[in-house]
Parts: sequence; structure tokens; C-alpha cells
Amino acid sequence: MDKILILDFGSQTTQLIGRRIRDLGIYTEIVPGDTVLEEAVLTGIAGSTLRGIILSGSPESVYAPEGAVPDQRVYALGLPLLGICYGLQRMTADQGGLVEPLPKREYGRIGVTIKAPEGEGVIRRFLAGFDKTFTAWMSHGDTLTRLAPGFREYGISDTGYPAVVGHDEKPWFGLQFHPEVTHTERGSEILAAFVFGVCGCTKSWTMEQYVEEVSASLQNRVGTNPVLLLISGGVDSTVAGALLLKTLNADQVHLMYMDTGLMRKDETKTVKTALERLGAKHLHIIRCEEEFLGALKGLDDPEAKRKAVGDLFITVQEREVVRLGLPDSYFLAQGTLYTDLIESGKGVGKKAHLIKSHHNVGSPLVDSKRRAGRIIEPLDRLYKDEVRRLGRILGIDEEVVRRHPFPGPGLAVRILGEVTKEKCDILRDADAIYIEELKKRLSPAGERLYDEIWQAFAVLLPIRSVGVAGDARKYGWVLALRAIVSADGMTADVYPFPVKDLLEISTRITNTIKDVGRVTYDISSKPPATIEWE
Ligand code: XMP
Repeated sequence: MDKILILDFGSQTTQLIGRRIRDLGIYTEIVPGDTVLEEAVLTGIAGSTLRGIILSGSPESVYAPEGAVPDQRVYALGLPLLGICYGLQRMTADQGGLVEPLPKREYGRIGVTIKAPEGEGVIRRFLAGFDKTFTAWMSHGDTLTRLAPGFREYGISDTGYPAVVGHDEKPWFGLQFHPEVTHTERGSEILAAFVFGVCGCTKSWTMEQYVEEVSASLQNRVGTNPVLLLISGGVDSTVAGALLLKTLNADQVHLMYMDTGLMRKDETKTVKTALERLGAKHLHIIRCEEEFLGALKGLDDPEAKRKAVGDLFITVQEREVVRLGLPDSYFLAQGTLYTDLIESGKGVGKKAHLIKSHHNVGSPLVDSKRRAGRIIEPLDRLYKDEVRRLGRILGIDEEVVRRHPFPGPGLAVRILGEVTKEKCDILRDADAIYIEELKKRLSPAGERLYDEIWQAFAVLLPIRSVGVAGDARKYGWVLALRAIVSADGMTADVYPFPVKDLLEISTRITNTIKDVGRVTYDISSKPPATIEWE
């Protein structure tokens, strides 16, 4: 399998480079920009062949003390290199060129014109990916004021600075713009020209092959030992469960799900049906609603609520695992994704400026299993969209695969103020109506509203407002509806609802749930708001 290695200097779009290239059918790995390029790094996972290296962008300047420097062996490997933004400036500075601050930072869409290439060979194959003129997306405060020896300018920005450069003899290229960002016209074709035209990769990254490889390595590691996976009802843990069930003997696979009473309507039933359809034999459903509501009683501070839920999760988990009576040799499986590793800064990309704070931190159980070398994370090479694809291949129901994300603390962060069973039931019913309507209704583009929206849910506010019921005045709870579109939850835009749908959904909720007196729609984007209300 061919592989492209990405040296991450901390740009927020580094992961996008990885995803775009994977979409082209080539496996990618991201490592911190200053990683020592020893054999193990270059080889990566077994059976992969490194074909080229990309140096990513960075929020830093090449001259800033924080600006990471790659292991200089990168220039001696004889491999194709592509520098993107800081990556290009880094190559220029490392190879004897000059990088200096611009009088004014360039940010946003900027036109680029390509010059006709002189000569044949690799430069032609690279430039074949470009239109003669196109719009590119840039974000940089420095520019190349002198190219490094051996480099030539092949593209210039409308503002007069080098935008595309290439080396006369080596397969080394640089872009001052970001081809991975969708605002750059034909950005994927430019990346394709590098990975296919320059690096000579052949498409070899497919989900079917991933399943084969992971299955073999899982069987090898786990042997006949039992495996325990904690199931949340979300896509990731469900796909991880499906993969374990497909790969191992169903008798070995223990799935544990906690019904905290803070779940969506009929969640436990949905999870049970989905997993049994996939062949689960040992599904342990832990009913702990009373415990969770007890821990939340009297709490209205958001942080105190989150902590109460998180701590109890750990307590119940430890207790129930002991109760299962598995031998010490059991493995603990987790639905960790590639992005989780990058974001938590444990593995790759540790230099990225942290934007998203971490919600699901490790537990003592996870820590001790990790120390014992008995954690398995069969999705840790995959991006979210790849997990969905894998889920489909494994035969998971489309409704489960498309499910919107749901936070670990569940309804506790969607009931503002104190959480009670009564409020959970009201919110569950209102949320179920909202989601059912989104699945029934089509957008002007003909898609189900549910599929156009990245995440939608209802929130119960800690206020009641006045209304009328017949001749009497009554006080009902105020409900907020939220619907956002997003790529990854880090930023989000409000979903621009067709008004008619919003009005009809609101009417159905207030007509059906007598305790809800008023419905509002949250029109705040992230930032400055967050997606959840608490
Ligand atoms: P925020 O509210 O931080 O949410 O803008 C971003 C995404 O993360 C989800 N979220 C959580 N997920 N445990 C989770 O597993 C949590 O504590 C948690 N808090 C927020 C949220 O639903 C959204 O998709």
C-alpha cells in the first residue's frame, strides 16, 4: 500500500490534507513536524511504502523560535516533497533561500497564474493538475523574497508573490496557498497531480482492504482472550463493535452499555436491536438511571453537573467490569478515531493549537489497561467519514450510520439547571418529535432535513413562560431547538431552516407535549456560542 507522510507544523488544515489524499485512495499518516525521521516513522504501519512527504502549514513564522524545524534528513531521502504555505517557506529557508514578512498579511481568496513550464518530466506532470489561472485560498504573513538555489517560480499570485515553485532537478514543489481547502479551485486535482503524477502512487487505500488488515492484526493480538467494548450508542462505538464481531468469535466479545437515563428516547432499544442484528451474544445493559439522577440532584452549575456524570461513569464502569468477572487477560476496546489522537495531542500533531477542549478523558480503567498493553483501538487510523463508510460495509443500519453526534453527558447538558426525571422525559419526547420531523421533511434540494443537518437537538431551558390553554393562563417550559451544519464540530453555522418547517414542528411539539409552552430556535453560530448549551 502506498503512503504519503505529512509533517504537521500545526496548521489547522493539516488534517484536511490527510483526508483529501485519502479520498484520492492513498493512505496518509500525520506526524509532528519535528519528528526524528527514523526507519519506524518512515515505514509506519506494516506493508506500507512511503512515496512522498508533505510539509504542512503552521501558525508560526519560519524565523519564530516556536517555528518547528523538520529533521534535515527529509532533504536527503530522495523522496518527492511538497511544501504547503509554511512548508514551502520552511523548505526555502532550510535550502538557502530567504523568507521575510509581508507588509500586509494575505488572507482569503487570491488569484494565481501559472507560467508555462520549461522542460519535460516531473514538472509537467505536476503542473498538469493546475488551471492556467485559478482562485486559491491563502493565509500567510511571510513570503519568499529569494528562492532557494535550484528552485524556479511556476506560479505567481495576483499580488505579485511566488505561489507555486518547483526544483529544477529534484521532485520538490511548494505552494504558497492551501490546496486542501475547498475555497481553492481544483485543489484536489493539484494534490492528485502530486501524489499520482510526481510520487507515482497507485490507488490502494480501500475500506475493504482496511477490514482485512485490521481483522488479521486483531486476531493476532487478541488470540482467544475476551474483549470488552463500552458502547455509547454513537456511530464510532457501534462500528468498533461491528468490527470486533466480524473479526473475532462472538463468544469473545463483551459489549457494555450504560443506560444512564440521560439518553435519547428509545435509545437502549435501538442500541440493543442494532447490536443483536450484528451478532452480539454478550450485550450487558447496565440500568443505572436512578444512580445518575441521584448524583445530579440539586446541582445546577454546568461544570458540577459534567463532573458528577463523568465521575459516576467511572465508578459504575469499574464496578460493573468487576461484576462481569472477566479474566485479567481481557482486552479493552475503544472506538478512538484518528482525529481523537491528533486532537488530544498524545500522538500526532502535538503542535496544533488546541481549539477543542477534550470531553471524554481517560478513566483509571483505560489507563491501567493501556499500561498493561491491552487496549485495542481498531478505528484509530480512520477519519469520521471513513468510519461511516466502514459501518456500511459491515452492514450497520443506515439510520445508525447517519446518526447525529450525541454528547457523553447526554441530556444532562441539554437540561439547563437541575436535572430531574420529569424534565428528562419532557425533553426526550420533544426531541424525538423534532428528530422524527427532520427525518420526514425534505429540504428545497430534495434531501432529508436530517441528513443536511450535522447535529440537531432540543434543549430544555430553566424558565417557564405564560401561555393560554382554553380560557385559563398556564405556565409552560420554554424549549430551544438547535440545528447546525459543520464539518467536524469545531466550528458550526446555524442551519437556515425553511420557515414553514420550523413553524410546523413548533406547533406539533406544543400541541403534543402539554408541559412545553413555547418553542424558540437558536440562531447562534460557533464561535462565539458552542454547539451544546452547557
Ligand atoms: P461544543 O458544545 O463543545 O460541542 O461546541 C462540539 C461537539 O462535541 C459534542 N460534545 C460532547 N461530546 N462528550 C462528548 O462525547 C461531551 O462532554 C461533549 N460536549 C459536547 C457536541 O455534541 C458537539 O457535537
